[in-house]
Amino acid sequence: MSRLVIVSNRVARPESLSKGAQGGLAVGVLAAMAEAGGLWFGWNGRIENRPVSEIRQERRKNIDFVTIGLRQNEYNNFYRGYANSVLWPLFHQRPDLMNYRHHFRMGYLGVNRKYVDHLLPYLKEDDTIWIHDYQLIPMARMLREAGVKSPIGFFLHTPFPPLDLLRALPDHHDLLLEMLHYDLLGFHTLTDERGFHESIRYTLKGDISPSGLIDCMGHQTQTGVYPIGIETDEMPQLVKSGQRSQEYRQLKKELADRKLLIGVDRLDYSKGIFHRFKAYEQLLKNHNELHRQIVYMQVAPTSRGDVNAYGQLAQQIDQAAGHVNGTYADFDWTPLRYLNRGFRRNTVLALYNLSHVGFVTPLRDGMNLVAKEFVAAQDADDPGVLVLSKMAGAAAELDSAVIVNPYDTEAVAQSLADAIEMPLDERIDRWKQMMTVLERNNIHAWQKNFRADLIARPHDLSKS
Ligand code: F6P
Repeated sequence: MSRLVIVSNRVARPESLSKGAQGGLAVGVLAAMAEAGGLWFGWNGRIENRPVSEIRQERRKNIDFVTIGLRQNEYNNFYRGYANSVLWPLFHQRPDLMNYRHHFRMGYLGVNRKYVDHLLPYLKEDDTIWIHDYQLIPMARMLREAGVKSPIGFFLHTPFPPLDLLRALPDHHDLLLEMLHYDLLGFHTLTDERGFHESIRYTLKGDISPSGLIDCMGHQTQTGVYPIGIETDEMPQLVKSGQRSQEYRQLKKELADRKLLIGVDRLDYSKGIFHRFKAYEQLLKNHNELHRQIVYMQVAPTSRGDVNAYGQLAQQIDQAAGHVNGTYADFDWTPLRYLNRGFRRNTVLALYNLSHVGFVTPLRDGMNLVAKEFVAAQDADDPGVLVLSKMAGAAAELDSAVIVNPYDTEAVAQSLADAIEMPLDERIDRWKQMMTVLERNNIHAWQKNFRADLIARPHDLSKS
């Protein structure tokens, strides 16, 4: 099999994963890389001052990590700007939070060009190239222009917006065209794939076959649905090691007989944390009998704190958490524990195992691996209940969760009450059904299916 070359904006080392500092993309890509081996290229996460970027290569087991830095203006226009102040809010259906600037687009193209220029010397003829996420959409066009003939695939880890929203992006025409330079485009859900098809049909007048093969402006691009999964096999071991952590043991002792509800998210407006706090407040208002019987712990480490919308969110969440505790806390009970920090991955998994309810209610999410990991971290004989937003990609697969609309505060509150009281046999039934899906669509299936489809594509026939 040809060598796998993965490009993602951030490159994650195995040790940073265990510290819990990364999102779902990093966990998924690292698992894929660990299995297949190859080269992983991307940003080292640092801002550098030197005029010429230092490139570092480091080999760990079967993976070559190749990383570069970003200059301050590149970081501002590419990362804070076009990627996270334009594409991210738009793709998560928040055009009101978009801050569009022409120089952001220039910065985005500039950094994509820089990644291509630095990657080229490392490429071999028979590589298979797999680019990840919204930060790097133009890379295939640029690689083709540089003469690269290898198969090039792209996976979008976020949702893809419906046409009516996409049209709010001044460059949406160029963005769609850039996506057509890939041989294979992967989405988490059918909704995302259909949204893309609709935009191609309407905006670029492309033809799309029932199997998802697009014929448009001289390009032939296959699309497909590949829901990212998790490594289910490693969970029991990780949970066990997390149970030895000081945080786990302390919390278990403090909880005594109280039931734990847990939420774990990057502090991002797409995660619906504010709405979640409101629903929890409603639960406490409606259910006096649950006072002192439950504790909700929300773990939300700061993310993209220097992007405006995120700074405002942090204040809003602080206030909402204070309001819940100000209204309901007593000297011997803190109903909401909001922790604006991260924990080691195995500790988080052990906390899932300790919880009675996984409270996962994003307003919009590509997949949401917290939902999947929560389920996989449960004990078969006494599993917790997943309360999951219908707006998360995971809801398409995990339909045995308690599915909620995160905008319906009263219904979410009632679903929480139902989850807290759910009888054991129903909890076991739901959990078994979800585990069957998770074991079938695991992380290995995700990477194998995508790579097999990419390699099977006749590539570079129509591309420049
Ligand atoms: O999955 C979405 C994503 O933007 C990934 O691309 C990224 O690795 C993760 O979230 C964390 O975001 P950031 O790299 O901006 O901290």
